[in-house]
Amino acid sequence: MDKITALQTHNLTHTVTSKTGDLTILKGIDIEIKEGESVAIVGASGSGKSTLLGLLAGLDRNTSGEITLYNHSLTSLSEEKRALLRGQYVGFIFQSFHLLPSLEAIENVMLPSELKGDKQARQKAEHLLEQVGLSHRLTHYPRQLSGGEQQRVAIARAFASEPKILFADEPTGNLDEENGKTVIQLLFDLNRSQGTTLIMVTHDNALASMCDRQLIMSAGQLKEGNL
Ligand SMILES: Nc1ncnc2c1ncn2[C@@H]1O[C@H](COP(=O)(O)OP(=O)(O)O)[C@@H](O)[C@H]1O
Ligand SMILES: [Mg+2]
Repeated sequence: MDKITALQTHNLTHTVTSKTGDLTILKGIDIEIKEGESVAIVGASGSGKSTLLGLLAGLDRNTSGEITLYNHSLTSLSEEKRALLRGQYVGFIFQSFHLLPSLEAIENVMLPSELKGDKQARQKAEHLLEQVGLSHRLTHYPRQLSGGEQQRVAIARAFASEPKILFADEPTGNLDEENGKTVIQLLFDLNRSQGTTLIMVTHDNALASMCDRQLIMSAGQLKEGNL
């Protein structure tokens, strides 16, 4: 049986306005990603990888072209409707973590499941934080954690929402080798056990080559690569 299409774009283009004039970051991107695939996006710094990830996840609205997430056109939706779709389908690990500063590590991780009314939210969050090696930091606030620890809290939080598609922007960028390996293992475990589609930006060629597909971002275009 053919696999379901999780995400598709048609002529995806994105232009931002800056002080020096309009800047077209993405220039007509066409991709199709099937449910359960793992996809690495690689490319030079400033080539538009984070911009692309944010648009694909429905965090921001593209200026022209189409993005379809599980048969829902993101482009035509209001911010509220996009937020609902994100809640239903999407997990996101940000390059800069985006933890809530006034919440403890465990409260940050609990939030997505609590919002869904999950009575087991705290228990699940504890387990996830244990899996990323942070059992001893449950009640620390983000400012009391190192960059790598914050990254692992952000990863645990993304898992807590049990997303169908997990986007990760440089998920191992702030981690030492040991913690990097743990996180990679967790990402691919989730991919295999839950069929979660993984779409990640990375500079790590070893990680990129573990994915089913590699896409190379260059000059606003995305090409299939081979690592
Ligand atoms: N809102 C914005 N306004 C102006 N320039 C932007 C904006 N967002 C991104 N850029 C520029 O677009 C380019 C691509 O950014 P980004 O997607 O963050 O690249 P990457 O993640 O590949 O390093 C960069 O040169 C960045 O400075
Ligand atoms: Mg980036």
